[in-house]
Amino acid sequence: MKVLVIGQGGREHVLLWKLARSPSVTKVYCAPGNAGTAIDGENVDIKATDVDRLVKFGQTESIDLTVVGPEAALVNGTVDAFREAGLRIFGPSKPAAELEGSKSFSKELMRKANVPTAEFQTFTGATEAKLYVEEREEMSLVVKADGLAAGKGVIVCQSKEEALAAIDSIMVSREFGEAGARVVIEECLVGQEASILAIVDGHTILPLDASQDHKPALDGDQGPNTGGMGAYCPAPIINDDMMDVIVEKILVPTVHAMNIDNRPFQGILYAGLMITNQGPKVLEFNVRFGDPEAQPVLMRLKSDLAELLKLAADGKLSEAGELEWDSRPAVCVVMASEGYPGSYTKGHVIRGIPEADAIDGVKVFHAGTALHGENIVSDGGRVLGVTGLGENIADAKLRAYQGVKAIRWDGAWCRKDISDKARDFAE
Ligand code: AMP
Ligand code: GLY
Repeated sequence: MKVLVIGQGGREHVLLWKLARSPSVTKVYCAPGNAGTAIDGENVDIKATDVDRLVKFGQTESIDLTVVGPEAALVNGTVDAFREAGLRIFGPSKPAAELEGSKSFSKELMRKANVPTAEFQTFTGATEAKLYVEEREEMSLVVKADGLAAGKGVIVCQSKEEALAAIDSIMVSREFGEAGARVVIEECLVGQEASILAIVDGHTILPLDASQDHKPALDGDQGPNTGGMGAYCPAPIINDDMMDVIVEKILVPTVHAMNIDNRPFQGILYAGLMITNQGPKVLEFNVRFGDPEAQPVLMRLKSDLAELLKLAADGKLSEAGELEWDSRPAVCVVMASEGYPGSYTKGHVIRGIPEADAIDGVKVFHAGTALHGENIVSDGGRVLGVTGLGENIADAKLRAYQGVKAIRWDGAWCRKDISDKARDFAE
């Protein structure tokens, strides 16, 4: 099988690396890819959102399976275009991708399907939105831009003043552009977060082991939100009983509701959950692998990913056997550019990746890198995801940070406490 991965981050590098290990896969391409995907496969110089050229490439090269990484490529209809051209592709159609592309659509669907989530209201005008905030009794509210905002359109507010300012920045100043034409205002949930990724073929749901992301930039969950500064898998907060509840009360009703709404869901259904005192509640749905969650999750997956995604794309996921996992936990530490998630410079030469890769159990996934001649240079905010497998979480963490220690470039930094939340649970 010839496989094409669309995207250029850490998620795409781990996808390409894992797909390349499938016995049936003969060739892996990544469009546009990064230095890591160029080393482990072959890069194609086509942007992730250039649908026409991607379809043409798929046809010319007779690609047997395409896997879409980023949400923007799903929301703009890449999957629909590939299917129309008769090409096999794993990911949701444009109408199904609305589950991530519009928070108000996703919240309404959850309301209809009785899926546990924060109480909410949707507004298309700033005046009504502000009136609603003024009339609420609680202090903490969450204000969300309706559309895609690269993970930045969510503002957790501790006072009415903050909520009013959030409405202004999203709806009036249009800080996130058209994504702010609508806002969702919801109750603030309290608890620990977890990410559940499930492979779905429209009917059959195959949940992957739970993981946990670290969105804030600084240790102890301080500082501004980022795309994710590290992740680990499995997340011990999700035990088997909790997973059963998540499947029964969240995943099954959501997939069912999407069918009723005539938007059959095929792809990765990613439920971002808050584990509250009243059980798991959905913070958001995404429609693709999480980044960085994909790194620790896929590093532990022993099953043949290419076969699984092919079966899902063909609507035959019920034929897949039980998933096989490496029993060792995995921890992924993101190394970022100085200044991220604010502005940063690119082009710094990175040294030490081979030394980190040589550590037993460690694999360095590239997130924002490029090749400049012989050198690997930084090319994004999140630059590398150093991922370690270990006998337990503490050992996996130790190995990942040994990898981090071997790597250097001007301004490199990372969080030092990735996976510490797992310590609250006995191993
Ligand atoms: P989202 O993009 O919707 O996952 O939101 C980004 C982050 O904002 C989440 O990972 C949570 O940390 C936080 N968040 C979103 N919605 C809520 C909520 N209703 N209550 C508390 N925190 C939230
Ligand atoms: N790690 C969060 C995301 O992929 O949206």
